[in-house]
Amino acid sequence: MDAIRIRGGRPLRGRVRVSGAKNAALPILCTTLLSAGESLLRNVPNLRDINTLAALLRFLGRETEVGEGTVRVHAETEPVRPEAPYELVKQMRASVLVLGPLLARFGRVKVSLPGGCAIGARPIDQHLKGLEAMGAHIELDRGYVIAKGPDASGGRLHGADFCFDIITVTGTENLMMAAALAKGRTTLLNCAREPEVEELAHVLNKMGARIQGAGSSQIRIEGVDELEPFDHAIVADRIEAGTFMVAAAATAGDVLVEGAPMEHLEGFVSKLRAAGCGVAREGDGVRVTRVGPLRPVDVTTAPYPGFPTDMQAQFMVLMCLAEGKSVITETIFENRFMHVSELARMGADIEVRGNTAIVHGVPTLSGASVMATDLRASASLVIAGLVATSHETDILRVYHLDRGYEHIEQKLAGLGADVERVTGAPL
Ligand code: EPZ
Repeated sequence: MDAIRIRGGRPLRGRVRVSGAKNAALPILCTTLLSAGESLLRNVPNLRDINTLAALLRFLGRETEVGEGTVRVHAETEPVRPEAPYELVKQMRASVLVLGPLLARFGRVKVSLPGGCAIGARPIDQHLKGLEAMGAHIELDRGYVIAKGPDASGGRLHGADFCFDIITVTGTENLMMAAALAKGRTTLLNCAREPEVEELAHVLNKMGARIQGAGSSQIRIEGVDELEPFDHAIVADRIEAGTFMVAAAATAGDVLVEGAPMEHLEGFVSKLRAAGCGVAREGDGVRVTRVGPLRPVDVTTAPYPGFPTDMQAQFMVLMCLAEGKSVITETIFENRFMHVSELARMGADIEVRGNTAIVHGVPTLSGASVMATDLRASASLVIAGLVATSHETDILRVYHLDRGYEHIEQKLAGLGADVERVTGAPL
């Protein structure tokens, strides 16, 4: 089993380029199922999750080629098998994003329920309610969602007005993809406004869809009969960018994060500045510097454009080093403090009360062996390892990290970090 070993205490300096956005690539790759033609996605990060989705597309019957920064989904040569098995879906929840496209295009689909994950129960009730509003018949059978179109033989979904009870990113994406091929108009209310939702709508419109309002809480979709394939390069990953920005701040470094989409990071940047860090646009990126002490800042996670839950763990490490007490409240996922006990092993002083963590700043952290539990928690442990002095840090179960960060140890080494991947580490 791989581990990442870090000898910390060095300020990060230099420049690092951000990769393409994982959470944009995954839904966009699912849209290839809405068209029979050959689609090409560029600027795709080399990640475990991308390979998992490519494996799912192949299982569905679409020849899929993962290249250097590209994914090519070939034109259909055989009937698509609209079924996503548990073996693949359990590896990556986002596989549920094939549900909308397959149902909309083929009128029937069988998709494994994703089940819960380390950070929460994560039900998909809103996805299913929305598809039912479009006329789908949905049954749950032995852990699978069995969905059919409105009439006996399946058939085409119809447009509908649907209001989400809770803001959901992949829920908005699934219904947007389904509505793109439905008969008539769909209006979605209380939608997620994440940049990845907007990027997905942009690609769907390139394919011939008629979507308006993506990026706002109300999206209108005029269904069309057919969609064309696409050739598209995806946006940069705002969460990867944010992770490097916090690493620069935590190590009191000076880093230019090239390609960082500042316009997608406002809810986070204001907190970084409030903590005493310099954050400035430079070229197509953002330079982050820190010279003085860190100030404590309270943070509450929220749907976009609020403070992203996917930056909560990383920002917590920064607050571990602040002069004073800060309060971090997680409102999106019910179990997203798994990193707290690992940070405590490194000398952090954090109290958890329900969905709130009270962080008391400490002068420094010390290296230790720690366990990654989920993608963003593992990123926070990497940052803690970069800061830690006195001993080296071993982060175990880094397969979590590989799901969402491309070549992270090479990128950090390029900024002067003493970091390496060790294989065959004990579990
Ligand atoms: C997306 O997950 C992201 N994943 C997550 O990133 C991110 O943390 C999350 O949005 C929030 O920003 C991808 O885009 C692939 P939600 P998603 O549906 O869509 C509840 C990462 O680190 N809910 O917006 O699964 C749900 O339980 C990952 O890259 C329902 O109750 O999240 C949660 O509490 C982790 N019913 C809240 O809504 C539903 O039908 C928001 O979840 C759907 C969601």
